Amino acid sequence: MEIGKAETRRRKKGARDQEARAGITEMSARLTIAIDGPAGSGKSTVARRTAALLGYLYLDSGAMYRAVALKALERKIPIENEAALEALTRETRIELKSPTPEQETAGLKNRVFLDGREVTQEIRTAEVAQAASRLATIAGVREVLVAEQQRAGQGGGVVMEGRDIGTVVFPKAELKIFLEASAETRAQRRWKEHQEKGENFSLLEVLQEVRERDKRDRERRVSPLARAADAVLIDNTAMGIEETARLIVFLARERENKRDSAGAALERA
Ligand code: CDP
Ligand code: CDP
Repeated sequence: MEIGKAETRRRKKGARDQEARAGITEMSARLTIAIDGPAGSGKSTVARRTAALLGYLYLDSGAMYRAVALKALERKIPIENEAALEALTRETRIELKSPTPEQETAGLKNRVFLDGREVTQEIRTAEVAQAASRLATIAGVREVLVAEQQRAGQGGGVVMEGRDIGTVVFPKAELKIFLEASAETRAQRRWKEHQEKGENFSLLEVLQEVRERDKRDRERRVSPLARAADAVLIDNTAMGIEETARLIVFLARERENKRDSAGAALERA
């Protein structure tokens, strides 16, 4: 996976702006923040807002599973052909970039390029979501994507969201969040998004889709969706996006300070 050069520049500039506002001259500790949770719990929206507030890079690992799933669907590779799907993942190039202002207004949280072709919209269908969750049960596919996620997030200053970020991708992340919301609320949120795109699914259909994917994600053998023992559980059923993001920023600031003081103590010793 490649992170656009502009994105890296934006991350550095974001950090500098933050520091200037806070009157900080020394670069403070830049954390790795892992956000995991089931479909529709608010991971993408909240992670993106948290990253913007902190001047961190936002990375959506689910977009990578979706992009490979789209390619597999287009090539009509059956889900049972694990070797072919692993090979396909290895030869796939995925880039994540910031959305254009128009895409942002349309509710898109990042731009996704599959082998150079923009697939930002195509990967957001219910069909691709289901295919991604099936693809995500294949160990070989996960191995390739996890390695890319680790490469993309190395060095910290990153908010990455998915299903196994705190457990497998970054088990040493300084801050881990497990985002929850009731299944009905999550389905309602997704249903609203479909309505806005002119897709007429019933609320019950969306609830079934979300439940089916949750079950598969939680019960799969490799890297199932699970709360890491040291993850902070935030149930945002009755919380807004801004409220949730600011709570995470609060927790991040606490951890940054802890890391700064630990570093200073080491220097004095
Ligand atoms: O990434 P994930 O599937 O966990 O969820 P999302 O795509 O970030 O959020 C699904 C929808 O719920 C989006 O339209 C968000 O704007 C909305 N949302 C909300 O209304 N309240 C929240 N506290 C979190 C998300
Ligand atoms: O946005 P939503 O929560 O609906 O899904 P997503 O984050 O885009 O992920 C799509 C599918 O990819 C999930 O249902 C998971 O099966 C899989 N996934 C995963 O297994 N591990 C991740 N780190 C991220 C996504």
